[in-house]
Amino acid sequence: MLQVTKDKVYVDGTVGMGGHSEAILERSSPTGVLYGFEWNEPSFELAKKRLSKYGNRVKLFNKSFIYIKDVLEKEGVLADGIVLDLGLSSFLLEHSGRGFSFQKDEPLDMRMNLETEITAEKILNTYDVKRLAQVFLKGEVPSAIRFAQFIGEKRKRKSFKTTQDLVEAVKEFYKTTRKSLLAVIFQSLRIEVNEELKNLEKVLNEVPEVLKPGGRIAIISFHSLEDRVVKNWFKSDPRLKPVLKKPVVPTLEEIKRNPRARSAKLRVGERI
Ligand SMILES: C[S@@+](CC[C@H](N)C(=O)[O-])C[C@H]1O[C@@H](n2cnc3c(N)ncnc32)[C@H](O)[C@@H]1O
Repeated sequence: MLQVTKDKVYVDGTVGMGGHSEAILERSSPTGVLYGFEWNEPSFELAKKRLSKYGNRVKLFNKSFIYIKDVLEKEGVLADGIVLDLGLSSFLLEHSGRGFSFQKDEPLDMRMNLETEITAEKILNTYDVKRLAQVFLKGEVPSAIRFAQFIGEKRKRKSFKTTQDLVEAVKEFYKTTRKSLLAVIFQSLRIEVNEELKNLEKVLNEVPEVLKPGGRIAIISFHSLEDRVVKNWFKSDPRLKPVLKKPVVPTLEEIKRNPRARSAKLRVGERI
């Protein structure tokens, strides 16, 4: 979709473990250049190691993708292609120790980057019930208001410290620990901690300015809240035309191989 070739400039706004970055560097060999952004510190270090063999063809930044425009303007370059593969990586879920997974017992942190001030623990223990309800409502958590009230009562007895404290509260309130329910509750807190939708809107608004005419932007989202923002943006931004009528979704074969891909949607636009 990005039509990667040599001599061009690409941006990976969510480097993660460097899978997309490496594929872009391989296909744009020997002269393509990649600017990579990864907000999470340990992921950034791992990707830096993996991609070091590409020498000065790769420039990595341990920064949020909201800085893409600033960095490219400072470097005096425009991009031929930009990719954003949103959300969490398997690494963050399984190895970060920051409480992203309801299947582990870890501190309720959920910060992608430790410079962020708010944590999931602070939200659960200190947001007033109205504000907490807003977090759950925005995250489309079922019975959001009553669940926020329940948390408000429960924390008077004992504050929330770990992911399993939250799982316990879900179990008490909803009488179930269905995975899809836990996922949506954890997701709503993660979105609030990292201001994910706000950051997404900011980057979408800014990146057309640093994309060459004919250059493409490919975005993979993993849940409807994100996808709604991306879809509406492609529909309404006059600087872009859609490349695909419908988003690309994984085949059954891919989902079998990689179940975490099941909710992925790829949308692609081209700079006019
Ligand atoms: C789905 S993973 C990307 C995986 C990657 N495509 C790969 O090949 O390994 C999303 C990554 O984006 C990072 N991330 C999330 N929000 C970010 C932001 N605002 N700026 C930069 N990176 C971000 C996460 O830390 C995570 O590593």
